[in-house]
Amino acid sequence: MTPARDSGSPSRHAQPPPRSRERFASPRIVTTARGEHVHTADGRELVLRDIEPGDVAAMERCFKRLSPQDVRRRFMHAMSELPPPMAQRLCRIDPALEAAFALMDETVKPAELRGVGRIYVDEASNSAEFSVLVELEWTRIGLGALLMQRLVDESRRRGISELWGYVLMENRPMLQLCKELGFVAKMLPGEAGTAQISLTL
Ligand SMILES: CC(C)(COP(=O)(O)OP(=O)(O)OC[C@H]1O[C@@H](n2cnc3c(N)ncnc32)[C@H](O)[C@@H]1OP(=O)(O)O)[C@@H](O)C(=O)NCCC(=O)NCCS
Repeated sequence: MTPARDSGSPSRHAQPPPRSRERFASPRIVTTARGEHVHTADGRELVLRDIEPGDVAAMERCFKRLSPQDVRRRFMHAMSELPPPMAQRLCRIDPALEAAFALMDETVKPAELRGVGRIYVDEASNSAEFSVLVELEWTRIGLGALLMQRLVDESRRRGISELWGYVLMENRPMLQLCKELGFVAKMLPGEAGTAQISLTL
């Protein structure tokens, strides 16, 4: 017999969380003359645009807000600070071989970087390595999926045949997100804690 929804038990009153595909669809993108505006289901707004050389200060502030765990998951090792040359390098990309999409919060002054997704193209193998980051307070509302989908679309637009990245095995959110987007994971020989995640395009 199917259990009644209103059976009196508190757990049965709780609504099940929305299915992932509903969450993925939830950030709504509205394109205006000023760019792409992302409206989240909980009423927040971000601007989605290419990263720019002028984003260095916002990137450095974003890095300072990250937890040590997020830093390790994004950069694959501990880092207490983002060295200025690295911040500059991450914001001044070579468009022939890289793409980087920033989610900017322009409701605050100065505007803050809340998420970024990027690819590095390896022409020899016609593949691209991805990385993605969403600031903790902006997670679980579909922004990671939105950035990853943007990277998939950009890779396809460039005729790339494989999109791949390294993910720590303890990084359940990223492994789950990639799985739901159709990526497959394989263990790296000699690297017990790291998986290589890839999507054939
Ligand atoms: C991994 C990360 C990008 C996810 O971003 P996000 O904006 O929360 O992702 P979404 O909201 O689009 O979530 C999509 C799906 O990912 C999975 N997911 C996200 N956060 C999760 C969590 N804390 N636990 C389990 N699954 C999670 C779920 O499947 C989720 O779907 P659901 O919410 O419907 O269950 C973000 O947590 C992050 O930046 N982490 C630190 C950096 C990092 O790990 N980068 C990846 C290596 S390059």
